[in-house]
Amino acid sequence: MRISENKIEEIRSAANLVDVISEHIQLRKRGKNFIGLCPFHNEKTPSFTVSEEKQIFHCFGCHAGGNVFKFLMDYEKISFVESVQEVAQRCGITLDLEEEPQGEKQSEQEILYDINTEAARYFSNNLLNHPDGEVARKYFQERKVKPQTMRAFGLGYALNGWENFLSFASEKRIDLEKALALGLIGQNKDGKLYDKFSGRIIFPIFSPNGRVVAFAGRVLEKREGTAKYLNSPESSIYVKGRILYGLSHAKDEIRRLDKAILVEGYMDLISLHQSGIKNVVAVSGTALTEEQVQLISRYTKNVVLLFDADTAGIKASMRSIELLLKREIEIKIASLPPGEDPDSYVNNYGREKFEEIIKRAQNFLEYQSEYYEKQGMFEDAAKTAGAIRELVKPVALISDELKRALLIKNISKKFNLREKLLESELDKAIESAGKQITSEERIRDREAAKINNDAREQTIKKATPLLYNMEREIIKLLFEGSSEVVEFISQNIQPEEFVIEFHAKLAWVVYESFSGGGSIVASSLIEKISDADLQSYILELTFEKYEISKSWEELYPGIAREKVLQKAARDTVRKFKLEQVGYKIQANSRLIENEPNEDEKFNLIKLNRDLEFQKRIISEKFSGS
Ligand code: UTP
Ligand code: MN
Repeated sequence: MRISENKIEEIRSAANLVDVISEHIQLRKRGKNFIGLCPFHNEKTPSFTVSEEKQIFHCFGCHAGGNVFKFLMDYEKISFVESVQEVAQRCGITLDLEEEPQGEKQSEQEILYDINTEAARYFSNNLLNHPDGEVARKYFQERKVKPQTMRAFGLGYALNGWENFLSFASEKRIDLEKALALGLIGQNKDGKLYDKFSGRIIFPIFSPNGRVVAFAGRVLEKREGTAKYLNSPESSIYVKGRILYGLSHAKDEIRRLDKAILVEGYMDLISLHQSGIKNVVAVSGTALTEEQVQLISRYTKNVVLLFDADTAGIKASMRSIELLLKREIEIKIASLPPGEDPDSYVNNYGREKFEEIIKRAQNFLEYQSEYYEKQGMFEDAAKTAGAIRELVKPVALISDELKRALLIKNISKKFNLREKLLESELDKAIESAGKQITSEERIRDREAAKINNDAREQTIKKATPLLYNMEREIIKLLFEGSSEVVEFISQNIQPEEFVIEFHAKLAWVVYESFSGGGSIVASSLIEKISDADLQSYILELTFEKYEISKSWEELYPGIAREKVLQKAARDTVRKFKLEQVGYKIQANSRLIENEPNEDEKFNLIKLNRDLEFQKRIISEKFSGS
């Protein structure tokens, strides 16, 4: 069933969040808000906060938060649609269950998700029920995958032949153009369409919240000249480097155990899951990316790498170590006997033996030094020096000084090296890591100074603390629910102008809803933010002790809230614009000082004069009553 956006909006605004929550938790008033003990984590002093004005809740302890639907979903463990139904019932709003969106345009992405969901259902049905799916059922039986597991991971089978999916798609009136973009069908030179995954086992790939974003198809038997796995191409709903296979199935367990095991393959993850080891995610064929590390770090700071024992696996481990260390993640590396992968190992030896492997995981220094040792790097003095330098490099990435010192002690013990020697190597490594940063900074300055009249120019890459605070103020104002304020800000500040990416994204959400005629109250906007980090960020911001409206109300007693907000918006936008230009002038001045070429220098000075002029214009433009 689909409920139209307007209906959802109607239901949401009819409910009072404070009443709904009060039925489950004791709330008491504090200032403008209500507080109580958080039902989503264990606590003795209340950090669970509810805003009646904004109709949102937020826990400062566990970062849970959202609107009335989110509360019911989390509290009663029900789906979104169920929570909408429940609220509708409370408020006496009738929901026509058959209701299909009328004249309501589904977003492009929603359509793609729907197509993938249909396709996944189709493939799964082939595997579970179709007579020609027998080969695939046999295949999984041989690999010891149970039907229950197939269902849990939505595994499927694309029938042999070139037009099976195609005719299913036509029957279901799936937009073939879109199916083509999603890589479900292909097109040959003569323009003929055909099934892309034909004859392959299908692994749907899920987003962190469980929607099908892509597919991987594995050949039943390895044949020469065909890739073992075929993957969907990237699309507007699938960016490879931002997805970790299995995360939606694993995230709760990762959080519970505060540990994630990182494996390479789909089958590794599935077999482990089936044997009860569920805190596993798979990189599946690509090198670990920074975005994937960020994804994991939302759930835990402890990662065990368990890559294949072949050279590709070792190389992948080495590369991953740096990325993980940079994010302050504790890394362990586990190794399997030669020739085994996690899938084969857990099927051959069982869960307990597998858990021993995880327990025996080494820290990254042990792992790396053992590797260099095996390479014969410690056999002569010259090579030893090189190996030590390599070993010290990742240590330099750790910002915790104490941790660094401990690691250095370890290396020195292990290789019988003087600590002093290692420390001086470490200093060098830290210094060169630092140099990289300053050269980045230099580039940023240059970028910042490159201003011209092109309005699209995105100049500032680095926020001054002042700029940062102003941005926060502006974002807060955008979530105050005033359309005049949103209109004013959106006319004067482009999303790209925000230095902090979070702010740019949040502004984007508000602007888009506003220009599309959607609601701009916080409790509705919060639903349009798909990223969990971003959601808790804005909740925190909205609940911050210091509130704009409040402090402005104090400054201008007796003036209507709406007027106060507008005044605040004008003032903050002006300050923001001035600070922006001010920052460019500063960066530019630094360049002038160091510019040896006289002509260049002259240009830069001219630029600075233009910037000063801009400042005057801004002051004039945003002054007024
Ligand atoms: P493996 O070749 O180790 O496969 O590739 P596997 O996962 O053990 O699969 P089985 O056990 O043979 O069925 C590891 C991972 O690398 C990616 C896949 O994600 C795979 O799970 N891969 C491998 C590809 O993307 N394409 C390929 O052609 C091969
Ligand atoms: Mn395998």
